Amino acid sequence: MNLDWIACPGSALRGDVRVPGDKSISHRSVMLAAIAEGTSRIKGFLEGEDTRATAAILSRLGVRIEAPSVGERIVYGAGLHGLHASTNPVNQGALDCGNAGTGMRLLCGLLAGQGFDSMLVGDASLSRRPMGRVIEPLTRMGASIEALDGGFPPLRINAKKALQGIDYKSPVVSAQVKSAVLLAALYANGTTRFRETQPTRDYTESMLAAFGWPIRYAPGEAQLEGGHRLHATDIDVPGDFSSAAFLLVAASIVPGSDLMLRDIGINPRRTGLLTALRAMGADIREESSRKLGGEPATNLRVRSANLRGIAMPASFVADMIDEFPALFVAAAFAEGATSVRGAAELRIKESDRLAGMAAGLRSLGVEVDETPDGATIHGVGARALACGQVIDSLGDHRLAMAFAVAAQRADGDVHIRDCENVATSFPEFIGLAQDVGMGLRSS
Ligand code: S3P
Repeated sequence: MNLDWIACPGSALRGDVRVPGDKSISHRSVMLAAIAEGTSRIKGFLEGEDTRATAAILSRLGVRIEAPSVGERIVYGAGLHGLHASTNPVNQGALDCGNAGTGMRLLCGLLAGQGFDSMLVGDASLSRRPMGRVIEPLTRMGASIEALDGGFPPLRINAKKALQGIDYKSPVVSAQVKSAVLLAALYANGTTRFRETQPTRDYTESMLAAFGWPIRYAPGEAQLEGGHRLHATDIDVPGDFSSAAFLLVAASIVPGSDLMLRDIGINPRRTGLLTALRAMGADIREESSRKLGGEPATNLRVRSANLRGIAMPASFVADMIDEFPALFVAAAFAEGATSVRGAAELRIKESDRLAGMAAGLRSLGVEVDETPDGATIHGVGARALACGQVIDSLGDHRLAMAFAVAAQRADGDVHIRDCENVATSFPEFIGLAQDVGMGLRSS
């Protein structure tokens, strides 16, 4: 079913709101709780399609998971060796990750060391995303994983009794690859060391430590040994900075806005957009900073501001890898040009985000020069964008939300196509956007 949106200017953004739980942390929390010993309680779990798909897969692998209330999960851990093959005949036993790259890549690592075969499948978008990046290191560890030509899903993971630890320097900057290797390493003999050319989000490392697995890690490097156990723990998931990003940009560009976003995770490997927006002149303050679920969290108060374009260094990319759709919109309303480079990974996310954002913004009247690994966006400053356009979100949740934000400064209605996948990460986006004053409805 295709869901379209109509977005248009609303009022100044006002209010005091929470965004849904962090997607990365939610995936990892339910995976580690599933293979821990004892009962873990998760609060703030993201009720999105991506993370629910991961929880459903773990249930099919024999883990009892209860959902007593929205955002709450009680996971009765099966222990490191307690998973078993899915006996459910749905999809001939294939495990459906839906739209979730994180789900598929991390589960691939987790399943690589099991004593049973598994098959991971995904939707049309996920079926076009490269899995060679996890297959390669996992194969070096002794895993047996078959994919379609070019390394595309479905993935058939063949039973393995024991893997071998590796010392791996990753050619791609990816927390998903790192996490897949670390999860497989729990089942490997000896030591696994993972090295990165740029540090990525470290939730797998910190959560393994919270579940009692000895691990050494620092930005750019992680090391652990097989043969330990995970012990159940409780996890409070902070709000997802990547979801907050759309509201940060919306409140920055709509004059008169003053919006409070509560309990947002601000792990430094996630907040590159905050640095970029501040460099552009945004007015975003952190209030009551504290720890939530072991992670730095804060309330973000954002007020509208006049933005100016910046040259974004390539070193920013990893810390804001999911925030480029939001950044492109901020750049569209800045004075002067904003340039992005070193961001070719954006072409293999849920969609080709460089091409998709460039096409959508161009049809709203913004000049965008696309390059193989980035773009230059020529901001319109205080001008409004064109209206009456039909823009394609390419079925990408973050493009849909970015265009809805851009339309807050259009001359009238903007029609955004194919928005159903917003439910993967931010199911309540329309309601929350309306509550804070944005003009947005489904068509
Ligand atoms: C994620 C890592 C990032 C990010 C994705 C979530 C994670 O992907 O884009 O949305 O939870 O580890 P890569 O690690 O492939 O860059």
